[in-house]
Amino acid sequence: MKLLVVGSGGREHALAWRLAQSARVQTVYVAPGNGGTARAERIENLAITDIQELIAFVKQEKIAFTVVGPEAPLAAGIVDAFRAAGLKIFGPTQAAAQLESSKDYAKAFMVRHNIPTAAYATFTDPEAAKDYIRQQGAPIVVKADGLAAGKGVIVATTLEEALGAIDDILGDGRFGAAGARVVVEECLTGEEASFIVMCDGKNVLPMATSQDHKRLKDGDQGPNTGGMGAYSPAPIVSPTLHNRIMREVIHPTMQGMAKEGLPYSGFLYAGVMIDDGPDATRPIKVLEFNCRMGDPETQPIMMRIKSDLTETFELALAGKLDEATIEWDRRTAIGVVLAAANYPEEPRTGDAITQFAKDTDECITFHAGTQMKEGTVVTTGGRVLCVTAMADSIRRAQEAAYEAISQTHFDGKQFRTDIGWRALPSSES
Ligand code: AMP
Ligand code: GLY
Repeated sequence: MKLLVVGSGGREHALAWRLAQSARVQTVYVAPGNGGTARAERIENLAITDIQELIAFVKQEKIAFTVVGPEAPLAAGIVDAFRAAGLKIFGPTQAAAQLESSKDYAKAFMVRHNIPTAAYATFTDPEAAKDYIRQQGAPIVVKADGLAAGKGVIVATTLEEALGAIDDILGDGRFGAAGARVVVEECLTGEEASFIVMCDGKNVLPMATSQDHKRLKDGDQGPNTGGMGAYSPAPIVSPTLHNRIMREVIHPTMQGMAKEGLPYSGFLYAGVMIDDGPDATRPIKVLEFNCRMGDPETQPIMMRIKSDLTETFELALAGKLDEATIEWDRRTAIGVVLAAANYPEEPRTGDAITQFAKDTDECITFHAGTQMKEGTVVTTGGRVLCVTAMADSIRRAQEAAYEAISQTHFDGKQFRTDIGWRALPSSES
């Protein structure tokens, strides 16, 4: 069968790579794909981004089903359009994708359904927002309501920073329509985890647990990014916490969406903040919902899947996720992002990648911001590659990933040297 993956990042390379392992798959098309998917076996890039053109291609090539990687096409209604054309596509509808595309929608939804999250207020008027911030004091978090490519959240440690963020978003229109409203919320403390599940409208199948590192610099310092590295499993998510997140967050979300007439299908990613305490009682609060898998969390998660992922998607598309299981490799996988010079501000592009580590069963370089140009792979975006390795321990997986990175070269490459540190046994970190 032929499949289509929509997107061009490391997440989509990893999804396409795993799907292409299935003996039943002839070709996985990736639209528009990147320099890595351009040269992978049984994967082909498709230079189409327009939804109606994609629909025409899917009909013509008799694509069995489509998986959507990023949030933008979901928020633009790609699922609604494919379904209206009678095509199978895995992802939430435009209305359901508001869980990610509007932070105000997500917050109000959580309040309606008693899903634990930080206290908040929403504003369109800058003066009202500033009054609220002065009343609450710092630290405080300011978020543009709409999609802002991971840049719309300011965790302000001072009052000045928070007030400045209001001017940036509501005053200067830095985020366009996405910044017409701001959510101001309580600053939470604790450790973050990425809890990702597959949903079919009724049933839920959890993916392996994962954590990412959002800050640019070692020791989780520096500006927020889309994610500089990730690993799976996440030791913090004990069986007790896993059950609690399902019971306190995932099931109420699924039931709430169904009750409101928007049954949720697709990947659902809850970013949760886990505060200190015994697992049975420590506070768990939702920081955000994403209506897709995480990038780079997907890369280590895909590496750990041993069963046939096409079958999981087929069951999901038939509303039978209750019959699905995924067989997980027990080893730990870790993905380290190599970013371009000047990421995240204004990443430099056009650097040739002159050296790659050789892919093996345990170590793969997934591409993100790359393109093939006249036989050479060149950088085209902020996050360039994600070197992903799997081994018996987090320490060994780190060693393998960093060894592969030492064999990878492009000018200006930046990466963190401590991905996975939180998962190291406490005597080592
Ligand atoms: P979001 O896109 O809403 O997840 O925000 C991006 C990142 O900002 C999160 O992954 C957290 O690291 C941080 N963040 C968001 N909301 C809060 C909060 N209420 N308290 C502390 N940190 C936060
Ligand atoms: N790695 C965080 C995200 O995909 O949103």
